[in-house]
Amino acid sequence: MCGIIGIITNKKRDLVPELISSLRNLEYRGYDSTGIALIDGTVIKRLRRVGAPSDVLHAEEIAEELEIKEIGQSIGIGHNRWATHGKPSERNAHPHIDCSGDIALVHNGTILNYESIKDELIRAGHMFTSDTDTEVIAHLIEDKVAEGLSLQNALLATIERLEGSFGIVVCSTQEPARLYVAKRGSPLSFGIKNDSLIIASSTNAILAHTNTFITLEDGEYAELAADENGIRYHVGNFLDKRRGITKKPTTITDFSIDELSKGEYESFMRKEVYEQPAAFRTTLLGRYDEQTGDAVLGGLIDHEETLRSTQNIITLACGTASYAAAVGGVLIEALAGIPVRNEIASEFRYRTVPLDPKNTVLFTVSQSGETADTLESVKEARRKGYPTFGIVNTVGSSIAEAVDAGVYTRAGFEIGVASTKAFTSQLAVLYLLALKLARTRGMTLQAGRAFLAELERIPEMMQRTLSETDELMRAYAEKYVAKNIRTINFLGRGIHVPLGQEAALKFKELTYIEAGNYPLGELKHGPIAVIDKHALSVIIMPKDELFSLSKNSIEQILSKDGNVMVVTDEAGARELKKGSIDVVTIPTLSNPLLYPLLEILPLQLFAYHYARALGNNVDKPRNLAKSVTVE
Ligand code: G6P
Repeated sequence: MCGIIGIITNKKRDLVPELISSLRNLEYRGYDSTGIALIDGTVIKRLRRVGAPSDVLHAEEIAEELEIKEIGQSIGIGHNRWATHGKPSERNAHPHIDCSGDIALVHNGTILNYESIKDELIRAGHMFTSDTDTEVIAHLIEDKVAEGLSLQNALLATIERLEGSFGIVVCSTQEPARLYVAKRGSPLSFGIKNDSLIIASSTNAILAHTNTFITLEDGEYAELAADENGIRYHVGNFLDKRRGITKKPTTITDFSIDELSKGEYESFMRKEVYEQPAAFRTTLLGRYDEQTGDAVLGGLIDHEETLRSTQNIITLACGTASYAAAVGGVLIEALAGIPVRNEIASEFRYRTVPLDPKNTVLFTVSQSGETADTLESVKEARRKGYPTFGIVNTVGSSIAEAVDAGVYTRAGFEIGVASTKAFTSQLAVLYLLALKLARTRGMTLQAGRAFLAELERIPEMMQRTLSETDELMRAYAEKYVAKNIRTINFLGRGIHVPLGQEAALKFKELTYIEAGNYPLGELKHGPIAVIDKHALSVIIMPKDELFSLSKNSIEQILSKDGNVMVVTDEAGARELKKGSIDVVTIPTLSNPLLYPLLEILPLQLFAYHYARALGNNVDKPRNLAKSVTVE
């Protein structure tokens, strides 16, 4: 949540375009308002705007508006905001400054005790110009500097007063060759280049500059310096008061800068939807053995005994990741016969789960690896003694670091806020995990091999599904927009229930229309009351043993004048009465448990086309942030 950038260089240059392009790379973290600040000679110049950087920050105008005097600058900071305290407005946008205007900072996180600090600072004569929790940090630092502390010590003394989470980057005209940063609970990494250091809340913004970076851990602070002697950094820990910590930089090599651009696609979401076959294939790569009909999950190799003997599984996640986990849950129960409890992370932490950590393992699923609810729940689970494993996309992220072990999904960078390829990559790992668990429990060699053979064909089937359904989903979306649909529900049975949850989430995230989902059999127990000619029921029902039952439900909806769209396979499509219902056909698979891997694709496209027909921004839906680092 919120994107932070800070650049310090010993080769003075116009930093405005670099700050803007970094903020664009961070847009997925928040995009309701944005701002930058630079040290121009001896003064701080600041500009803040409401809106996303790609819409409201243009380099040429900014230089003029800021009346920049110096040819180049050594220090610049920037921020994309996702409002929590105070509405999205220019006065609440970051960077925030102290009363003198000498200190500027950007912050990601939430200061829980800001109200009492603010009262105290106002009584001491400080002037506040925003409604944010962040501004207290600038004034606290100001007081400490006035007492004679260096900026670094002022920051450290300030942190002692703060409750809550923060990633802070601060600069001052008094120390124009230094940036100071501190982290607790909100991600921060800094990239290392010959002539610059780049601090950011996500490596997305760093990788455009350099592929070598250091990730700070909770409790760490850093001084970043750039002067005639070169660039230097110094890391310390404010919890145990260690002054010098040696940290080994990470270098990422399997990364292409193209991943951060839309390429030929009109939106990141569309690009990422189409990247799913490749992301799925990459996630499977080298992780199964056709001979033994088994999955080979290197990250879990030291825990095979625990997995073999476990009697229960808990999954822990939020949003899309929780629905992937729920699909995985049905699969694991069906294939391996292990009871699975799907926990929403924001609930898990605050309630009692009566399962014994001695015979239970926990799998957490996260794209960003930074979701605060998930991270805190993982810590809670570990405290309680559960063996805790991760299915995470972002290498080196906080959740990836917090778990005992895990398996990375390999979806690459996902920029579109509505998750697509991360979801199917999470399913790729969960399908392998289900196979692994099943093969230690009774699944035969032949069944394991058949499962794998079908899993290998999925990327090709995904490709077919996308090309065969894209135009159709556009036509259906436009039809239902014209019909002025007021209620939409995504229904199914068995493994298609959680898939319907993800489809409903995609639809509401992008169209801003409330979308429901529940098991199809529940229709008659109440929800049928909402069916009329303005209601659309999307039923996910490939041809399996419950197909005839599901057909009855279609009749019930049609008899109430409701609209029906069915997602089914080729055999199912042949048995449905065309004309009265809209049919979306996906390729036939021999194992019905694998259908979710295809079913989600036309439903992602439906939400995408529906949102476009409404004129909504599909990459940055309103009110959302991709990585929610506040609880
Ligand atoms: C946010 C995003 C969702 C995402 C969820 C979990 O709510 O808007 O798209 O599914 O967080 O994120 P994670 O990074 O943990 O998978």
